[in-house]
Amino acid sequence: MTESTRKVMRSLLFVPGDSEKKLSKADSIEADVLILDLEDAVVPERKAAARALVREYLADRPDHRRQQLWVRINPLDHAEAGADLGAVMPARPDGIVLPKTRSPEDIDVLGQRIGHYEAEYEFPVGSTLVLPVATETPQSLFSLGEYARCGRRLAGITWGAEDLAAAVGATANREADGRWTSPYQFVRSLSLFAAHAAGVEAIDTLWANFRDPQGLEISCAEARRDGFSGKLAIHPDQVGVINRCFTPSVEEIEHARRIVELFEANPGAGTLAMDGHMLDLPHLRQARRTLALAAAAAG
Ligand code: COA
Ligand code: MG
Repeated sequence: MTESTRKVMRSLLFVPGDSEKKLSKADSIEADVLILDLEDAVVPERKAAARALVREYLADRPDHRRQQLWVRINPLDHAEAGADLGAVMPARPDGIVLPKTRSPEDIDVLGQRIGHYEAEYEFPVGSTLVLPVATETPQSLFSLGEYARCGRRLAGITWGAEDLAAAVGATANREADGRWTSPYQFVRSLSLFAAHAAGVEAIDTLWANFRDPQGLEISCAEARRDGFSGKLAIHPDQVGVINRCFTPSVEEIEHARRIVELFEANPGAGTLAMDGHMLDLPHLRQARRTLALAAAAAG
């Protein structure tokens, strides 16, 4: 899928799959994507009930034009993962979030299993997308550069710091002022470049303190600045901030339009001047990306 045909994924809100109350509220929230969670938000005794609720929810909401409906299943090496897929695939989610991915091979295996359901239920094979939480195990970091080979199912790459910190016995992953400690800054950067190396969306991890809109705002601004195109959310109050931060402003759109028009007016020019600044092809590429993002955000 090209940048212009891919649906916008600025805000991706987790909704615990076993919570009827939160599920019933979810469609009134302006998140681009809901991630109906069967993994860490659901205790083992409630996994089966959550699967049934999520399946029913998907079946009741077949129109995904305004909001994509994704499901986070349990990790592939977990006994629940097969049952999760079996329950939700007939109701045709837009995509599957795979936690604790160990390597791109997990995406291959998941893709094959999804493909089997797509064929069985006569959905276009390859139409269900996949988003790995690609940094939750230590070993996962060493194959992050290889996701390009996963093909068109791969919609993006996101990252997580909590399971990784637990896996290595870290006593903290943030400094006192909220900044990531250096191992997690490194992981954030790796996942950003892994996503771009694969040509897919770079989705920043969540801001856990949902009563801290200022911290969220700074985190979003930094993520957008660095090349992330969206962010995970855990609370409805986070969605508006995220959508705003990841939508190009009127000024950005105008600036991008001028750059594109200047290059179009000067075919054959690889470098041009505008407002006393040098522009070359990376600027043109970035301007086109901004306009595509603005168009997608406008629906
Ligand atoms: N999706 C949908 N609705 C949500 C929601 C979510 N993720 N989080 C909160 N809400 C609803 C609440 O039910 C409440 O509804 P009400 O006004 O009808 O009572 C309203 O939004 C306000 O919620 P609030 O009281 O501020 O928060 P809370 O104490 O009920 O919940 C959390 C706090 C963190 C438990 C909750 O936001 C949550 O479950 N988040 C998702 C966690 C998750 O999925 N984690 C796994 C990924 S890391
Ligand atoms: Mg987790």
